Amino acid sequence: MLPALYLVQKQQGFVSRRAMEYVGQVIGVTPAEVEDVVSYYTMFYSKPVGEYVLQVCRTLSCALNGAERVTDVLAKKLGIKPGETDPSGTFTLIEVECLGACDRAPVILVNDHWHECLKPEDAEQLVDDLRSQGPGVLSGCHLCVEKRT
Ligand code: FES
Repeated sequence: MLPALYLVQKQQGFVSRRAMEYVGQVIGVTPAEVEDVVSYYTMFYSKPVGEYVLQVCRTLSCALNGAERVTDVLAKKLGIKPGETDPSGTFTLIEVECLGACDRAPVILVNDHWHECLKPEDAEQLVDDLRSQGPGVLSGCHLCVEKRT
């Protein structure tokens, strides 16, 4: 089911209810079972999202290192709350659980790119960089962070 949902999301940008029904039909499960999977994994979106999906980890290591302030800065900068997309359709802000890089907290995932050790004061700059330079600034893997520090 997961590969099928990835394909749907790659084609449509999110997994619609109709797509859940279709995937269920193709692989032989109920639409409710497909919806269970879509709603469980934060990497699947059941409604349209922005060009950039900012997923802020809120689990313990990140929480202790300022994740809530990162979320607040991003929310204020974008004029939205977690779970919302900005009016331009460019940014979606989501709070998620552990992204698997706890030793580099706080961590956010922008589309498929990790940004680790992200200080709240740098979160605003990340949005500005994405707006002005586009996805080329998405190189926040831990190796890049280590080179910068
Ligand atoms: S607690 Fe944030 S990445 Fe694990």
